[in-house]
Amino acid sequence: MKGIILAGGKGTRLYPLTQSVSKQLMPIYDKPMIYYPLATLIEAGIHEILIITTPEDLTLFKNLLGDGSRVGCKFSYVSQPEANGIAQAFILGEKFIQNDPVALILGDNLFYGTNFIQQLKKYSSTDGGMIFASKVTDPERYGIVLFDENQKAVEIEEKPKNPKSSYAVPGIYFYDETVVDKAKQLKPSKRGELEITDLNQLYMNEQRLHVEVLDPAIAWLDTGTVQSLMDASQFVQVIQSRQGILIGSIEAAAYKSGAIDKEQLSELATELEKTVYGTFLKSLI
Ligand code: G1P
Repeated sequence: MKGIILAGGKGTRLYPLTQSVSKQLMPIYDKPMIYYPLATLIEAGIHEILIITTPEDLTLFKNLLGDGSRVGCKFSYVSQPEANGIAQAFILGEKFIQNDPVALILGDNLFYGTNFIQQLKKYSSTDGGMIFASKVTDPERYGIVLFDENQKAVEIEEKPKNPKSSYAVPGIYFYDETVVDKAKQLKPSKRGELEITDLNQLYMNEQRLHVEVLDPAIAWLDTGTVQSLMDASQFVQVIQSRQGILIGSIEAAAYKSGAIDKEQLSELATELEKTVYGTFLKSLI
């Protein structure tokens, strides 16, 4: 399975922080935001990854992440000139996807929980589409799933004013090889975007959208506002210092998923030895 990270947009809700630097490069405690979703894909065994960002930010991401060989992966890049919606990622990524199944993760979504990666590994050969649903207190901010009395997902709506359910769809999605054709069928929504919710609706119409309720023990944080950015930093800081682990480390994820071996990890840890980050990496060996 291949992976795509969408790290576009203007981040206007974080101005002036993001006026000249991409939102997905903002720090979440001790690493750039994009490390977290990237580490999630890598740890799940997805090592061929396309990063989509704005033309202005492309060089910054390339400088940070390179071609991926440092962590035993293959990273490539494509730009999204206008914020035309999440589902446009599959059209922009057509050449990269070819005829393979693909996972998409949003560059500003952070997941943490011991069983999460195990759960993700189950979807490496998805028949149809697979998304999660997670209970939230502010459903009007998200794509929403409505379940019937048999816990079957029956309706999906993007940011409804009066949500019929409090189950939001987090920014990680798995699709089969029909995703590119489906994305091409979409028409822009009222806000002028190719909506991921409309893409999910196409899978639902075919009875091929699997919706899995996210284990409440898994933390899903999004980082779209200054307050949530701060909350995410504090969350990472508390867990890391209390438990002596690293959340969102691409090097650790590469090691755990077999993309690099002990010697390679040791070299990466040496590069970072002046930091607590490097000390954590050393402790993995
Ligand atoms: C997007 C999607 C929405 C999803 C959310 C998750 O919203 O449109 O369906 O629930 O990501 O973070 P937006 O990027 O507009 O916040």
